[in-house]
Amino acid sequence: MDINIAKQGLIKKGFLDLEIDPQINLFAEIQKLKKEKNVLLLAHYYQETDIQDVADYIGDSLGLAQKAEQAKSDIILFAGVHFMAETAKILNPTKKVILPDLKAGCSLADSAPTPLFKAFKEKHPDHLVISYINCTAEIKALSDIICTSSNAEKIIESVPKDQPIIFAPDKNLGAYLNKKYGRNMLLWNGACMVHEIFSLEKIVKLKIRHPKAKVLAHPECEEAVLNVADFIGSTTEILKYSSTDTADQYIVATETGILHQMQINSPNKTFIPAPPTNNCACNDCPHMKLNTLEKIYLALKYELPELTMEESLRLAAKKPMDRMMEISRAAGLLG
Ligand code: 13P
Ligand code: SF4
Repeated sequence: MDINIAKQGLIKKGFLDLEIDPQINLFAEIQKLKKEKNVLLLAHYYQETDIQDVADYIGDSLGLAQKAEQAKSDIILFAGVHFMAETAKILNPTKKVILPDLKAGCSLADSAPTPLFKAFKEKHPDHLVISYINCTAEIKALSDIICTSSNAEKIIESVPKDQPIIFAPDKNLGAYLNKKYGRNMLLWNGACMVHEIFSLEKIVKLKIRHPKAKVLAHPECEEAVLNVADFIGSTTEILKYSSTDTADQYIVATETGILHQMQINSPNKTFIPAPPTNNCACNDCPHMKLNTLEKIYLALKYELPELTMEESLRLAAKKPMDRMMEISRAAGLLG
């Protein structure tokens, strides 16, 4: 079999561990291929630093969704996880959407299997369904409005207080919103494996050693961690806060990838990753970190693996996404 066809077969299946000439300059080759093929390279803040440095845009889930929606390029290469590439396809279907490793999933999205969620929703027919963007296209299609950690507050506020709501799939974000806005949303029992791993005990010990350090936390963290946070927000909000705030030390309770931009924006400040419960690197998202410069190079070269979606599913998932974009636009949350 022709070697290129064999390679493309492997890439299609998501196995991007092909050999690359060690002599080539991956940065230069990626830049060249992006230009030649008119590609927009989008990266989430949780990507490894090299990928952030080669991306055209780095953002949180909301910013990335907006960039994907507005993309004029022929190809969107998404350095993120599967649900993010799906979001790009839902919002901008004429573009070829490429995800360097199709196995880059998400524990939070996985925590809501479609049949179980469908049955749960059917048990509560009077409830409006608000789903966090970290879910599959199938769950989006079963939802009324989508939200991200940047716009969740505005989305919740847009719903009358007496309207019963199901919030899925993140129970920690849901509980945080319930407490902050005096809601009683019914919560799906899902969570992010990265944001649940932080050790309150170790954060408190760190605070004792660094009394001036402020704790910054993502709302996907458990309540006990959020209770000791000085600031809670999405990745973009945490980044903005750390750039404009006057403290010079921070303990950061979210995925470690964000520290790269924090350090670029504030070179004289100290950022300490909040420690996980054991000595693993569990505050690195194993799904996000499946993407590598090598896989991005191969994905650009072969224009694979491509993310495709049934049109009926796309249209059903688009409705609640459009609602989210409308509310975000009206609230001035989109740049
Ligand atoms: P945001 O990008 O909305 O901050 O969400 C973080 C996250 O867990 C993405 O997978
Ligand atoms: Fe999913 Fe958590 Fe990884 Fe984000 S950090 S992709 S929510 S597992």
